[in-house]
Amino acid sequence: MDPMIEINKIAFSYQEDEQPALKDVSFSIEKGEWVAIVGRNGSGKSTLAKTINGLLLPETGSVAVGGKVLSEETVWEIRKMVGMVFQNPDNQFVGATVEDDVAFGLENQGIPRSEMVKRVTDALTQVKMNEFATREPARLSGGQKQRVAIAGVVALRPDIIILDEATSMLDPEGRADVIETIRKIKEENDLTVISITHDIDEAASAHRILVMRDGQLVDEGTPQDIFSQGTELISLGLDLPFAEKLKAALSARGIPVPSEYLDEEGMMDWLWTSVLKK
Ligand SMILES: Nc1ncnc2c1ncn2[C@@H]1O[C@H](COP(=O)(O)OP(=O)(O)OP(=O)(O)O)[C@@H](O)[C@H]1O
Ligand SMILES: [Mg+2]
Repeated sequence: MDPMIEINKIAFSYQEDEQPALKDVSFSIEKGEWVAIVGRNGSGKSTLAKTINGLLLPETGSVAVGGKVLSEETVWEIRKMVGMVFQNPDNQFVGATVEDDVAFGLENQGIPRSEMVKRVTDALTQVKMNEFATREPARLSGGQKQRVAIAGVVALRPDIIILDEATSMLDPEGRADVIETIRKIKEENDLTVISITHDIDEAASAHRILVMRDGQLVDEGTPQDIFSQGTELISLGLDLPFAEKLKAALSARGIPVPSEYLDEEGMMDWLWTSVLKK
C-alpha cells in the first residue's frame, strides 16, 4: 500500500543560531490512519504539522503527500489535500454567519455557487451544525465553533485533516463531542487524520501515537504500547487525566491510593469500596 504521508529525514530551524525545531524526523502514515502526535511544549509538533501542508519547507529531507513530493511547484496542490484546524476557535472565523464562514474557503477556490451551497449544507450536516447555519459564529459554544471550523475544512474535501490542539480550549464534553465528530467524518469521507494533542483521551482515540521530544521522533506505537510502557504521562506531554489528579491529591492528604492506572469508572469503584465505606 502506498503511504498517504511520507516524511524522510527532515530537519528545520527557525533561526540559524538556535537548536533546530525538527531534527532527522522520518515516518509514514497510511491512507485512512488516525495518528496522534504527542510531546511536551516546544517539542516540534506544530512545526512538523506545518511541514506536512507546506506552510514550512524543510531544509533537508523530503515530505511527500498523496505521492507528491513537496516543493515550491507542488505546494498549492499539497495544501489542497491537507486541511488544518487550530487551537483557538475564535481566531478561525471570517464569515458573519456560520454558512458564510464555511463557504469562505470554497469561494476562494472559485467553486460555482450551486456546488458551493450543496457542499456547505453537506459539511454542516456532517458536523451536526445545520440548524445553526444562519447564526453568528461568535455566539456559539467553543465545541460548536470547532465543529464549524471542521465543517469549513471538510467542505474543501481534503484527504487529510490535521487538528493542532483543536480540542484544547474545550471542556471535557466539548472535547468528547469534537473527537466523536472527527471519528464520524473520518469514516464517511475516508480521511486520514493527524491529531496533535495533550489530551490522553484524544491520543487514545488514535490508531497510532508518535512521540516527539526536542525536535525528534523518539517513540511510536499503538496507544496501548505507549501507555503501558510506564513512561510518565507528563514526559509524553500529556495532561494527567482526572482520576490521576485526584489520586495525587488524595495521596498528598495521606490517603493510600492504588498504584495502577485507574480510569474514572475504576476510580469510582475504588473510592466506593475502599474509601467511602470505611
Ligand atoms: N515562529 C517561530 N519562530 C521562531 N521559533 C519558533 C517559531 N515557532 C516555534 N518556534 C520554536 O520551535 C520549537 C518547536 O516549536 P513548536 O511550536 O513546533 O512546538 P510544539 O510541540 O507545537 O509546542 P506546543 O505543545 O507548545 O504547541 C520551539 O523551540 C519553539 O520555540
Ligand atoms: Mg504546537
